[in-house]
Amino acid sequence: MKKIKLSPSALSCNFANAGVQIQASRDGGAEYLHLDVMDGIFVPNISFGQPVVKSLAKCTDMVIDTHLMITEPIRYIEDFAKAGSDIITVHVEACTDVKATLNKIKECGKKVGLSIKPKTPVSAIYEYLPLCDLVLVMTVEPGFGGQKFMADMLPKCEELREYAQKNGLDYEISVDGGVSAENAHLCVKAGANVLVAGSSVLGKEDIKKAAEDVLRAARMGE
Ligand code: DX5
Ligand code: ZN
Repeated sequence: MKKIKLSPSALSCNFANAGVQIQASRDGGAEYLHLDVMDGIFVPNISFGQPVVKSLAKCTDMVIDTHLMITEPIRYIEDFAKAGSDIITVHVEACTDVKATLNKIKECGKKVGLSIKPKTPVSAIYEYLPLCDLVLVMTVEPGFGGQKFMADMLPKCEELREYAQKNGLDYEISVDGGVSAENAHLCVKAGANVLVAGSSVLGKEDIKKAAEDVLRAARMGE
């Protein structure tokens, strides 16, 4: 079993106070920082781009887990690598040439992440899994924070875990969308080890405690 990591999503921050809020999540045990980049085309929302990633990456020693919800992300891989991302995750649905996109991330010296939307089956990415360091299973339709967790996505984590075991692969399995202290144990039980959490951590009043609560709940699933 891989180490459980909490990856608070900065989308739930008050950006005027982001450094302090992110540090509070770090103090609560979060090791990754999830940065959601949205282009208003691949998803019906716009968030932020390279300048914000760059500033946030500089203000913390957390692993920068950049989630690109943008069309043809290959165009911007270098930019987000230079901005300080450690892991760059793209959507299989957003790429014309998935292999070239994943290889581009590797060429930039970054960890390769691949994500699937709720309607995309795991079988759609079998051929790319040997290239992946992380697979991100969306547990909401991407685009907005604060949506309801889709528990019916958890069998995808089980399938990914079994596939890795059978094929000698070693990617991390991440879940994103509606993750909270109420369902974190289910995610871990299903095989996820990187838990992205927006509203349930950085959206809370006491961020340190919220991070501790989600991590404690997650460990119950081990
Ligand atoms: C949604 C984003 C998520 C979002 C999660 O498209 O990918 O990372 O910020 O927020 P919560 O945890 O509030 O669902
Ligand atoms: Zn995300």
